[in-house]
Amino acid sequence: MKKMLTNKSVNRRQFLKAAGAAIVLPTILPSSVLGRDGNTPPSGKINLGVIGMGWQGPGNTQSFLAESDCQVVAACDIDAGHLQDALNMVNDHYQTKDCKGYHDYHELLAREDIDAVMIAVPDNWHALVATEAARRKKDIYGEKPLAKTIAEQQAIVKAVEKNKIIWQTGSWQRSQAPFHKAAEIVRNGLIGDLTRVEVGLPAGFADFSGEGKEALNKLAALPDKISDLSKVTPGTPAWNLLATDPPAALDYNTWIGPAKMEPYIAARLHKNWRWNYNTGGGQLLDWIGHHCDIAHWGMDCDNSGPSEIEGQGEFPAPDALWNTCTKYRIELKYPKNITMVIAGGHGDIRSGTKWIGTEGWVWVDRGGFDASNADWKKGKNLPDELRKVKLYESRGHQRNFLDCIKSRQPTITPVQTAHHSAIPGHLGLISMRVGRKISWDVKSEKIHGDSEASKWLTRTYRTPWHLA
Ligand SMILES: NC(=O)c1ccc[n+]([C@@H]2O[C@H](COP(=O)([O-])OP(=O)(O)OC[C@H]3O[C@@H](n4cnc5c(N)ncnc54)[C@H](O)[C@@H]3O)[C@@H](O)[C@H]2O)c1
Repeated sequence: MKKMLTNKSVNRRQFLKAAGAAIVLPTILPSSVLGRDGNTPPSGKINLGVIGMGWQGPGNTQSFLAESDCQVVAACDIDAGHLQDALNMVNDHYQTKDCKGYHDYHELLAREDIDAVMIAVPDNWHALVATEAARRKKDIYGEKPLAKTIAEQQAIVKAVEKNKIIWQTGSWQRSQAPFHKAAEIVRNGLIGDLTRVEVGLPAGFADFSGEGKEALNKLAALPDKISDLSKVTPGTPAWNLLATDPPAALDYNTWIGPAKMEPYIAARLHKNWRWNYNTGGGQLLDWIGHHCDIAHWGMDCDNSGPSEIEGQGEFPAPDALWNTCTKYRIELKYPKNITMVIAGGHGDIRSGTKWIGTEGWVWVDRGGFDASNADWKKGKNLPDELRKVKLYESRGHQRNFLDCIKSRQPTITPVQTAHHSAIPGHLGLISMRVGRKISWDVKSEKIHGDSEASKWLTRTYRTPWHLA
């Protein structure tokens, strides 16, 4: 006998299951039946799939495992070792064998019992995975920067908005009290009129995977002593020594995905993909979604951005193993004549975010907070009488995502915020590449009168990958 489902007991998954069994399922379900009209939130546990379980993926997943209204039911990675570690982590936590592993994210996303996904694949893959997840109507916790190019970011924004899904970006600093307090100081006008914002990011490279050191150890056998992977270029004995077959556990063709096929070299794979523009965006794009995201929060620029961008940087040879910008300084003009400086490797710009106004300043970084007024340094929050403008408060970044899945309200870092937070980094890199100032139309999201610069807004995908 068919079980009757009451309104109360029907959640999104039960509905889909019951509908699938009893009636012909329409191709497109109205958002209201999925609890997406803001009135009928899904009840019960949120079933989560996790995609990309290298470094940040497991960290995010640990936070979701700690939330009792969320169940991690599936994990996906194209490195069999990473996938097995992920399954062990999840199944050990629940003391079951229920979390299912996937090599192909399409298969995970096709599961109708999955409500939401956490995506922590390298930047090269953000747009393809996120747009497919949105098409499948999964709510998404997606990593920063939103995507590898501005055009890919636009595709994600469009897919998220069209499918009315909840989006949270991995820009978790917004869920931390010191960043919240600093942004509120600025938004409440306590530093007077804002004139200048300084965003200090790291420079150079960091050998996150340890494979950089391994590579240098290997190169020590050569007569030319090489101490820097940004000096290793194709066709040299050093390059030939480092290029090997990919490990059997890794699906290297898919890992390269839409990027240009390149020989496998372990020092630019997991974690260190950031240091090659084929797959990443260097320190600038790695950090833009953190400190520039916070800068924008204080500036009230979550839906706007700069109109003029001029950057100067130092770059290794374009075909070097690690080829991303090693030192950079970008000056950006914002509305109300506010200047932003984004810099890496310049001693006058301190790491973190500093807002300077006509009557004071405030600076914040991970583990650091300072201000022109000593009173603002006291306490976790500003005193209530100073908080005429109260910024969004979250109880924790992953927690906020789960709350918003239920309430269908925007998260603390929705997709438009992520889009606008990363744009200054993308445009800064473009300006450095073409070697001149560029003008940006915030509304149409186009570069004015510079066809060479405009080409960098997008990239060509390797066959057979394409963005729908
Ligand atoms: N919010 C933060 O503080 C923070 C910190 C670190 C990284 N990140 C972001 O997280 C993302 C991942 O970075 P990471 O350092 O963890 O990289 P990583 O290389 O350590 O891990 C990426 C994982 O994705 C897998 N992968 C690659 N392509 C895939 C595909 N098509 N399908 C399934 N799995 C695939 C890889 O095998 C690897 O296991 C990046 O966007 C990065 O910017 C955010």
